[in-house]
Amino acid sequence: MDIKKVVVVGAGTMGGGIAQLCAQQGLQATITDINQELSDKARARIEAGLSGRVEKGKITDAVKTDVLSRIATAGNLSPASEADIVIESAIEDLNIKKSIFAQLDELAPPDTVLATNTTSLSISTMADATRRPDKVVQMHFFNPPVIMKLVEIMPGRKTSKATLEIAASFARQLGKDPVICKNEAPAGIVSRILGQLLNEATWLVADGIADPQDIDKAMKLGANHPMGPLQLIDMIGLDIHRAKMQTLSKELNDPRYAHPKLIDEMITEGRLGRKTGKGFYDYGD
Ligand SMILES: NC(=O)c1ccc[n+]([C@@H]2O[C@H](COP(=O)([O-])OP(=O)(O)OC[C@H]3O[C@@H](n4cnc5c(N)ncnc54)[C@H](O)[C@@H]3O)[C@@H](O)[C@H]2O)c1
Repeated sequence: MDIKKVVVVGAGTMGGGIAQLCAQQGLQATITDINQELSDKARARIEAGLSGRVEKGKITDAVKTDVLSRIATAGNLSPASEADIVIESAIEDLNIKKSIFAQLDELAPPDTVLATNTTSLSISTMADATRRPDKVVQMHFFNPPVIMKLVEIMPGRKTSKATLEIAASFARQLGKDPVICKNEAPAGIVSRILGQLLNEATWLVADGIADPQDIDKAMKLGANHPMGPLQLIDMIGLDIHRAKMQTLSKELNDPRYAHPKLIDEMITEGRLGRKTGKGFYDYGD
């Protein structure tokens, strides 16, 4: 399938990054959000990032202009009517995503694949909000999408083999190396494994076994991880980590995924990680 026009729903961290990736690979990308201003801001962030690369001599001004010429913006979902594929990357809220999928189903051509970049919500529930559940699939990108090589692809209950193949070949078209899961489960592979790692590191702090600096040092020097698990949870945000573990606990009905109380206490104190200036580490202002 020849994919040329991509519509990205959600102009946040991931939506902007996915649109930039598509444009860099020569595709036409339209960023949409709940209003024009948010989409324009995402495009402006991409422009600022590319300008920084021009200043550092990593790309030419002509490349920047060329990439930007392929990024359009909109304040509603209407560009989906011309999309070869849609990638939904709006806020992680199942009701909002269901409503987006129902609208996309009305707007997009009948053969267009509708992909979601959800981290841990049900693909089948989003698919059931459409009349094309066979064409709904998860394409889970990693942050930042322009750099990270992996795309996890996961079917919902009714996703067809053809749709999985389209998603995998599209990921390759974007220069990625995809992994296809055989069945649906919340949080895929990487997020699920990392979730347990971050919980375990937090338990070591909560149980007074070691200080955050030593836990991170141990995982960097002893397991060759590029960053420590507590640096990572601070980067992700403790609230985001907790929400994912709660979804895993509920969906898989398994006490293995319960998070340490220390995480609740830190969230109550506003220690969410880098974004609030404090988490396991202090980041100042
Ligand atoms: N941040 C990550 O590292 C990461 C990695 C992989 C996947 N994800 C997933 O990607 C998705 C987006 O995450 P993010 O970090 O970019 O979030 P974000 O908060 O940066 O952006 C979310 C965007 O969705 C928009 N939005 C809200 N309601 C909408 C609607 N009805 N229609 C269109 N847009 C709407 C918001 O205005 C916002 O711009 C989530 O599902 C998240 O789980 C995030």
